[in-house]
Amino acid sequence: MRILVTGGSGYIGSHTTLQLIAAGHEVVIADNFSRSKPSVLGRLESLAGVPVKHHVIDLTDEEETARLFAEEAFDAVVHFAGLKAVGESVAMPLEYYSNNLGSTLSLLSAMRANGVRKLVFSSSATVYGEHAQVPMQEDFPTSANNPYGWTKVMQEQILRDVATADPTMRIALLRYFNPVGSHQSGTIGEDPHGVPNNLMPLLAQVAVGRRELLHVYGTDYPTSDGTARRDYLHVEDLAAGHVAALDRLGATDEPVSTWNLGTGTPTSVLEMVSAFAEASGRKIPTLDAPRRPGDIADSYADPAKAQAELGWVASRTIQDMCTDTWRWQSQNPDGFPDA
Ligand code: UD1
Repeated sequence: MRILVTGGSGYIGSHTTLQLIAAGHEVVIADNFSRSKPSVLGRLESLAGVPVKHHVIDLTDEEETARLFAEEAFDAVVHFAGLKAVGESVAMPLEYYSNNLGSTLSLLSAMRANGVRKLVFSSSATVYGEHAQVPMQEDFPTSANNPYGWTKVMQEQILRDVATADPTMRIALLRYFNPVGSHQSGTIGEDPHGVPNNLMPLLAQVAVGRRELLHVYGTDYPTSDGTARRDYLHVEDLAAGHVAALDRLGATDEPVSTWNLGTGTPTSVLEMVSAFAEASGRKIPTLDAPRRPGDIADSYADPAKAQAELGWVASRTIQDMCTDTWRWQSQNPDGFPDA
């Protein structure tokens, strides 16, 4: 298939682009580089061994998006583009709603106008909200406690409504748990814009000497070591989930399918700290700190539905995730080059 990958130069988008190409698809990237760097593209092309076409466009601009679909023919869209920092979303709700919802709306209009019916959407386990039981299952109710989370809940709803109106649509809502790790080559990986919010890039930056220590947010959770537990999954497993979902959209009669992408196994903050120290051979100084507002004790997937319907399992270990993150971070201490 010829696939439009929005946000294809971002962390998950770049890894997925490579796997789509490896699976025989042709990829066209649309990105405005607001949270990524153009130097990703050269590295992607070296790894893929083929040129990767890209368009620098703002997907919230309906006319620009319509023009892209007039210029290029697509069989499917994988939609990653979006803003994703929880704290920033609390400070800038309008930007989050307008960017994340606006890009999805103009993409959907362009898809409708051009008869493109397959869409894989980058959603998040954040849609299970603060009070969900674990393991989390796809039929749980959705909610959020910050604007970023609400944009994911709302985009899922928009996509369900569009599929109700046009049952020939084939839409996958992929709810990611905690993606970490990087490509084995160490040449592409997560390069957060500004100060990272997430545990793994912070661990990597402490290990490489860009930061002094890691704050451990909350040591009084009802878990075995008192720190919160998450379902970390390797970005390469996650990328494979997108390829599997896209394949499945060609075979299913369901207009909308929702799949958790996670391992089903939780790991605590302190367990991640020691796994990363071991993988990097570096000391990771930590400082106990209060709980981070909005954090929950436990978040992990029930991945049974994805396993049964996609034949997909996340098989890479915590050690693989730390080793691959360290390879990327130690080879690229400052992330991707500016030019
Ligand atoms: C966070 C977001 C979530 C988003 C996801 C992916 C919040 C409240 N949640 O999830 O909405 O979908 O990222 O972008 O921000 N931790 C520390 N020290 C740190 C950083 C994190 O102890 O410096 C802990 C956190 O308290 C948490 C765990 O590490 O228990 C994982 O944190 P993080 O990587 O930010 O992921 P989530 O909180 O699961």
